[in-house]
Amino acid sequence: MRYASITQRLADLGGEKWELYSRAKQMAKDGQDIIHMTIGEPDVATSVELIESAAQAMAKGRTKYSNGRGEPELLNALSQRYSNTVGRTINEDQFVCFPGTQTALFAALMALTEAGDEVLVGDPMYATYAGLISASGAVMVPVPLEQEKGFELTEDNIISKITPRTRVILLNSPHNPTGAVLSHQRMQEIIDLAEKHDLWILSDEVYDEMLFDGVKFISPLSFPKAEERVVVVSSISKSHAAPGFRSGWSVGSVEFTKRLLPLAETMLFGNQPFIADMTAKALSKPSKVAAEMRKKYEDRAHRIYTCLNGIAGLHINQPKAGMFVLIDVSSTGMSGESFAFDLLEKTGVAVMPGSSFGSELDKWVRVALTVEDDAFDTACQRIAKYSLSKV
Ligand SMILES: Cc1ncc(COP(=O)(O)O)c(C=O)c1O
Repeated sequence: MRYASITQRLADLGGEKWELYSRAKQMAKDGQDIIHMTIGEPDVATSVELIESAAQAMAKGRTKYSNGRGEPELLNALSQRYSNTVGRTINEDQFVCFPGTQTALFAALMALTEAGDEVLVGDPMYATYAGLISASGAVMVPVPLEQEKGFELTEDNIISKITPRTRVILLNSPHNPTGAVLSHQRMQEIIDLAEKHDLWILSDEVYDEMLFDGVKFISPLSFPKAEERVVVVSSISKSHAAPGFRSGWSVGSVEFTKRLLPLAETMLFGNQPFIADMTAKALSKPSKVAAEMRKKYEDRAHRIYTCLNGIAGLHINQPKAGMFVLIDVSSTGMSGESFAFDLLEKTGVAVMPGSSFGSELDKWVRVALTVEDDAFDTACQRIAKYSLSKV
């Protein structure tokens, strides 16, 4: 049978990157003692208040069809939240609600790119970006993020990759997997470049509430001169420890949103009113869960640094935000992938091979900070012992 070319483009870009995660899950199911430090699943629970809010909404009959854009109350909550943080009015007709950031990214890239268009994205990058970009037939152009520059996307690195086919700069700040956060100056430079070359800026801000102490977040949306070319996507997955609710959105200009809406309607045929009610409630005040996670993850980032940095030549990259720490394992002579699979087999500690996040991280592994403290410390000790046995 004949299949559309999208199935071929995405053939290796789906679940394969999570092979180690699947293997670890299977080992745990078989009764082995596994410490999971792979995916960014918050280790704190969704708040009871939000769960009850969704349950009450369901009981009240909020289980009917919605519309393609989102429930009025949620659009209102989003408008208030973004108007407050961005410093100018962002109206309700600038939002479309989606089941998570992932779908919002997919729809936005379908609206902005087609076969042969080029999308610039920092390498390393979140594991699903390659698939998201390829879906429309666009070409992913990785822009190396250098460790010496704090893994930040820089003007020089971007300029060398711009061609007449470039359409979009895909930003992710705070960044997964490096925990880098773009400074105001770097953001300004990126916006100037986008303006000069008439490019879109698509900004994945799913970690915007996961900033460590003293770190400031800057969104490209807060630069009025870029308002026509900036699209922001986000969700409550991380900020409210609620990834299973699949509740996200896009924010863009009125014109962009008008063009995106039929795409969303075609894909989704509307949203879930009870999830919209719960999300509106979530966005109405600062997230206590985010505050709890920030504190925990920053503390664990320090602990892993103290335990492992310099041990057997390992180098720990200290994040400014998010849920992850990167470890450079080159001193062991192994690739990140061999290290991660062997570490899992020998010690039961599951970390992600850096290569799942782009070629720049071949010699690295990514550790999720989302494991409770005792298990976290045990895992650090096992990694130390294992690494010492390799040098
Ligand atoms: C950078 C980044 N973007 C998007 C997502 C997906 O978010 P959502 O659950 O809102 O679809 C993740 C999840 O880990 C992520 O790390």
